[in-house]
This record gives sequence, structure tokens and C-alpha cells, in this order.
Amino acid sequence: MVSNPVVLILGAGPRIGASVAEKFASIGYKVAVASRNGTGTKTANGFLSLKADFTKPDSIPALFNAVKTEFHASPSVVVYNAAALTNPPDKDSIFSTSAESVALDLNVNTISPYVAAQEAVNGWQTLPAETKKTFIYTGNIMNIAIVPMPLMLDLGMGKSASAFWIGLADAMYSAKGFR
Ligand SMILES: NC(=O)c1ccc[n+]([C@@H]2O[C@H](COP(=O)([O-])OP(=O)(O)OC[C@H]3O[C@@H](n4cnc5c(N)ncnc54)[C@H](OP(=O)(O)O)[C@@H]3O)[C@@H](O)[C@H]2O)c1
Repeated sequence: MVSNPVVLILGAGPRIGASVAEKFASIGYKVAVASRNGTGTKTANGFLSLKADFTKPDSIPALFNAVKTEFHASPSVVVYNAAALTNPPDKDSIFSTSAESVALDLNVNTISPYVAAQEAVNGWQTLPAETKKTFIYTGNIMNIAIVPMPLMLDLGMGKSASAFWIGLADAMYSAKGFR
């Protein structure tokens, strides 16, 4: 492992995101976090805080560029932790949710993490072979179980689709040491 590896956490709120950021910092990582409340500055504990909106997948590459500019290295670990769901206007009908809402939530749950993985893998080509390279996506139970609540529509669609592409990527890249 290089002396100061970098972790980028996409979607770092007060629960899982904050704990993961603290954990990586405690084992010597330089930490960048991104969310809608990001400031574009360093936090009190030295994390680079970036403003991001994952409903817009084309905004992802700029985040990786900002990390490289700040830390002079690509992140060897990327954690995609954001998620989105929409309350159906009719709480008893999954089909009362508009297609536009479904698409925006799919961007957050599936397309933006896919773009983040593209960026991560591109950045990993620039890192030493011995550096451990990992992409982590925070999932839930919904790729293996149907939770029968209309509220879960967008979350379940997105987590399930992401479970597929991440499984495919793992099958293609694990022999290279990318996980
Ligand atoms: N909490 C649970 O019980 C649970 C259970 C199973 C799985 N999970 C999964 O765990 C992950 C983290 O959940 P958590 O509740 O612990 O959250 P968290 O780590 O406290 O925060 C995630 C952060 O993502 C950011 N985010 C959300 N939408 C965004 C968007 N469109 N653009 C940019 N940033 C966005 C939000 O920050 P901003 O408001 O600043 O944007 C939010 O605080 C999720 O993927 C969730 O599905 C959670």
C-alpha cells in the first residue's frame, strides 16, 4: 500500500457515510466526501468536502478530478453510499410514481455509481500495482428479496440493477486485483 492512499466516499451523511469516513481516516487514508451539502473546502477533521448531485451522472468525473487535484493521486478506494427513493403520491400504488422520478432515482442508485466505477477503474491504472484497489457500493436486501411496499419501488429497482453490474464487474476484474 502507498503511504497515503486516498478514499472517495460518494454520499457521506451522518450514518454509514460518516462512520466509514472516520474509519478510513483512522487507518491513514486521505479522505474526500461528496454530497449535496458539500462545501468545496476541508472539514474540521481534514476531509475534502465536495458538493455533488448524483441525480446528474455527468457531474461525477469532476469529483474525481477535484480529488486528484487536492491529493495528487486517484482514490484507490471508492465508496458509493448514496441512495434515493420517492414517496408514491398514492401510497398504495407503485404506478403513481412518475417516470421522471423513477429515472432521477435510478440515476442516484445505479447510473451515477456506474460512472463512479468507470472513473475509479480509470484512476486505478495510474496507481502502483501493489496498491489495493476497491470499489464499494452500499446495497441492501432488495436485490435478493421483494419488499412489498410501493415506497420501495425506486430503491429496489436501483439496488437490484446495481447488484447486477457490480457482480459482472467483479467477475471481469477480480483477477486483476480490483474488487
Ligand atoms: N439506513 C439504513 O437503515 C440502511 C439499510 C440498508 C441499506 N442502507 C444503505 O446505506 C446507504 C447509506 O444510508 P445511510 O442512511 O447510512 O446514509 P448516510 O451515510 O447517513 O448518508 C448518505 C448521504 O448520501 C447523500 N445523498 C443522497 N442523495 C444524494 C444525491 N442525489 N446527491 C448527492 N448526495 C446524495 C446525502 O447527503 P446530502 O443530503 O448532503 O446530499 C446522505 O446524507 C444507502 O445506500 C442505503 O440504501 C441503509
